[in-house]
Parts: sequence; C-alpha cells; structure tokens
Amino acid sequence: MSQAFDVVVIGAGPGGYIAAIRAAQLGFKVACIDEWKNAAGGPAPGGTCTNVGCIPSKALLQSSEHFEHANHHFADHGISTGKVTMDVAKMVGRKDTVVKQNNDGILYLFKKNKVTFFHGRGSFVAAAEGGYQVKVAGAAEEVITGKQVVIATGSNARALPGVPFDEENILSNDGALRIGAVPKKLALIGSGVIGLEMGSVWRRLGAEVTILEGLPTFLGAVDEQIAKEAKKAFDKQGLKIELGVKVGEIKTGKKGVNVAYTNAKGEAVSLDADKLIVSIGRVPNTIGLNAEAVGLQLDERGAIVVDGDCKTNLPGVWAVGDVVRGPMLAHKAEEEGVAVAERIAGQHGHVNFNTIPWVIYTSPEIAWVGRTEQQLKADGVAYKAGTFPFLANGRARALGDTTGMVKFLADAKTDEILGVHIVGPMASELISEAVVAMEFKASAEDIARICHAHPSLSEATKEAALAVDKRTLNF
Ligand code: FAD
Ligand code: NAI
Repeated sequence: MSQAFDVVVIGAGPGGYIAAIRAAQLGFKVACIDEWKNAAGGPAPGGTCTNVGCIPSKALLQSSEHFEHANHHFADHGISTGKVTMDVAKMVGRKDTVVKQNNDGILYLFKKNKVTFFHGRGSFVAAAEGGYQVKVAGAAEEVITGKQVVIATGSNARALPGVPFDEENILSNDGALRIGAVPKKLALIGSGVIGLEMGSVWRRLGAEVTILEGLPTFLGAVDEQIAKEAKKAFDKQGLKIELGVKVGEIKTGKKGVNVAYTNAKGEAVSLDADKLIVSIGRVPNTIGLNAEAVGLQLDERGAIVVDGDCKTNLPGVWAVGDVVRGPMLAHKAEEEGVAVAERIAGQHGHVNFNTIPWVIYTSPEIAWVGRTEQQLKADGVAYKAGTFPFLANGRARALGDTTGMVKFLADAKTDEILGVHIVGPMASELISEAVVAMEFKASAEDIARICHAHPSLSEATKEAALAVDKRTLNF
C-alpha cells in the first residue's frame, strides 16, 4: 500500500521546505520530496538558495570582502598586515561547510516537525481519488499519495541560445561558485544581481572583471538615482561594466573563452577571458514533473500558471516560488509557502507583493522596497522625495564606509511611504525598517518622529524621512 499524506510538497528549496514545515505545524501529515544531491550523493535540501544561490554567494562575498578590507582598508585603521594572500580552496571549502550546515539544519527541522522527507525526483502519476499519486524516483522507486500537492520546483539558470554551460569555461551560478583559482580575466554576461555579486567577489580577489550588459541602462529596475550612485562606486572599484552591448559568437579553447560583441558605439570587440559567467536570468523548472499526466497548466515561459493565491488549474494543486510568476527571491518563495499551507488549513494566508524587499549584496549594498521614482512618475503619482547621504552619518564615518544614501518617496498629499531606496553600508539590514513601516502604512513623518539609536546607520533612515519634509537635522 502506498503511503498516504495530507500534503505532498515537491521541492525543498525555501518555498517547499517552509511550506512543508508550516503545513506540519498546522497538523497535517506532510511529505517533502527533493532530488538535490550533495557531493557524496546524499540529500541536500534547501534548493538553489542553499546549494548554489543565496547562501554560498553570501559566504564568498563575505570572504572576499575580508580580503579586500585586509588589503586596502586595514591600513587606515593603523593595522599593517604585510602581504595578504588568499587560499581560494580554503575559501570555497568554508563556503561548502556553510552550505552543509544549512542542508543539515533543514533535515533537522523536518525531523523536529515530523515532515517525512523523500530523497529523489517527484513526478505526477495520475489523479487519484481525493488527491494525486506522486512517484518518488530515488535510490528506490515508490508511489505516494497526497490529498494536496504543493509544487516548489524552483528555477534553472538561463543559457545563451546555442551556448550551453560546460561549468568549466562557461559557467552558470553553479560553476561560478566553484571556481578553483582566481581567474586573471573574468567575463560576465548580464549585469543583474548575479553578475554584480559574482563580479564583485572575483574583482576583490584580483581578477580583471568585465561585465557585458545588453540593456543601455544600468540596473533598470532600481531607482535611477540609486543605480547611478551604485555605478559610480563600482566604476571606482574597477568593476568594468559595458552597457548596451550585443553579444555575438562565443568560443572556448584551451586558453579559456573568447566573446565577440558589438559595443554601444557599434564597434566590434573581441574579449578574451579565462572564464565566462553567464548570468542573464533564470527559467522556471518543471523538468521531470510529468505535468502532462495530470493536465497541469504551464505558460509560454514554462512557469506554472497560478492565481493570486498560488492555486493552479487543478483542484488541490498549488505552486510557489521561482516556478511561478513574480520575483525570483527566496523570501518571496517562503512567504508563498507559508500562505499556501495556511490556505490549505482554511486560514487566510497572504503575501503582500508591494512590500517584498530586494537586496543586492555588493559593496555598497543596494536595497529597496516599494516603487521607484521613475515608476511613480510613470504612474502619475504626486510624490515628495527626501535623501540623506551616509557621508553625513557619524556611524558610517566611524565604519569608514560613507558611500551612498537613503532615499524616501512619500505621497505628496498623505505622506504615506511609497518607496525606500538605499545604496550604502548594511542596506540589507536597514531596509527592514522600511518594510515594516510600509506594511503598517506609515507616513514619512512617522519614521522621522521615531527615536533611532545613536550612532547608527539607521539614523540615515530617520534623516531621509525628515528630508521628505525638508528638515534634516544633520545635513
Ligand atoms: P529552489 O530553491 O530552486 O528549490 C527547488 C528545489 O526543488 C531544488 O532543491 C530542486 O532540486 C528541487 N526539485 C526540482 N524539481 C524536482 C522534482 N521533480 N522532484 C524533486 N525535487 C525537485 N534570493 C534571495 O532572496 N536572496 C539572495 O541573496 C539570493 N541570492 C541568489 C544567488 C544566486 C547565485 C542565485 C542563483 C539565486 C539567488 N537567489 C537569491 C534566488 C533564490 O535562490 C531563489 O529565489 C529561491 O531559491 C527560490 O526558491 P524555490 O523554493 O522556489 O526554488
Ligand atoms: P537578472 O535578471 O538579475 O539580470 C540579468 C541581466 O542580464 C539583465 O540586466 C539583462 O538585461 C541582462 N541580459 C539578458 N540577456 C542578455 C544578453 N543576451 N546579453 C547581455 N545581457 C543580457 O538575472 P541574474 O543576475 O541571472 O539573476 C537571476 C535571479 O536570481 C535574479 O533576478 C534574482 O531574482 C535572483 N537573485 C537574487 C539575488 C539577491 O536577492 N541578492 C542574488 C542573485 C540572484
């Protein structure tokens, strides 16, 4: 007899494993299936985020930032180190340890919450009475049933047409996180989130980095003023970003990679590099799910079609995270996972898409929530803007990191906060205050009137809120 569950979750990335835990907390009998294997062939739950995404990239960003500080900034503090060297194998090994701690943490959480974990590929067999049959193809093969199924199968890196990833010379995010030695020359295609984060890691470690971007504008989704400030900082660091290029032929050989492209002036350029990272976005992953067997509807991009509540076209089948519409972010996947589990339980789970924060973990960090100035203009919304530079913030001066600013956008009439945009130190942490404020529909004046600790970077947030009303105290 096949094992029967109330809820079967396919995929144990942030969307899936969080949905499974929340469903178990709500009293359901839950199974979670995930096929990711670690180097020894064992289970490695956590998905892209844990294995080849958020977590390992932040580990490498941290190591490379320490290296950069030791090389270039310690001297300002009176610390001399002599020649600083980087053991790349050790850095990558540390990153792998951090990943494993997270994989093990999820397995522990499954046990703690009594979620039954299956290691293998999950695919639909057929609709069954009161639910669905799902095959698990792992070390052994078995069919389980679920009254409700949550699909959280994530996404894969998008390759350039005709240029598959070989993970040796032409790298996706996976290979980019496993480079064994600092390349002398590193090329990247796409100056989005991965391009900037990975480009920063290897630039800090000494690679000559060139990022080729197809669009004529830098970080088009980011508030223009913030993107401009960030670009200035990256230029100063020597991160070479070429905008408005058209990538042509890509050849690989013993010596690495050659990228032929046309630059913004229309000139033909040939770029040699030891490695090429292609970071041009990601595609939803439904490979091996056997969606056809049950008539699950996909759109033209291969994403699973869902409504605002993450319901698919099939009764009792839900989908969350990167495999559905919306931003491809771990915290968005998690929130959808929680909301779906609660909806299955008859509760009113909710995800507010207007307050999902974005963070780019470069130095300076870039973080934002809500609408940009250009969006407000396009939407015809009357707004007030207030900015405050970190240059005028005491804590930033003490840290030795005064790049960037905090920017508030508030409704001209009601003063409700419509967007907060930060480029600068610890923007990733500072943005939380703005998210909370927007969730509570706060006005800029609410933030301006709240006591913020001194000296702290968060005072720049308060001052930017004061700036909306043209009454900064420290600038
Ligand atoms: P995934 O994390 O992709 O998990 C899907 C899981 O399902 C995988 O484990 C996969 O093996 C499994 N699976 C797929 N099909 C099957 C099947 N048929 N049977 C069994 N298992 C299956 N987001 C952030 O918010 N912050 C960041 O800092 C950040 N950094 C990133 C850095 C990089 C380099 C990359 C590539 C991404 C980053 N992201 C970041 C994005 C984030 O990783 C994704 O948004 C997030 O992982 C999506 O979660 P998910 O659960 O939808 O899917
Ligand atoms: P992206 O969408 O952020 O950036 C892709 C870039 O490539 C864009 O600027 C696009 O214009 C450019 N591009 C596309 N096709 C091109 C071509 N043929 N030639 C030149 N340029 C081209 O995608 P990226 O960086 O691959 O990351 C994927 C997703 O992963 C992100 O959108 C984000 O959702 C997630 N992610 C989130 C992170 C975070 O939250 N800190 C970190 C890394 C990834």
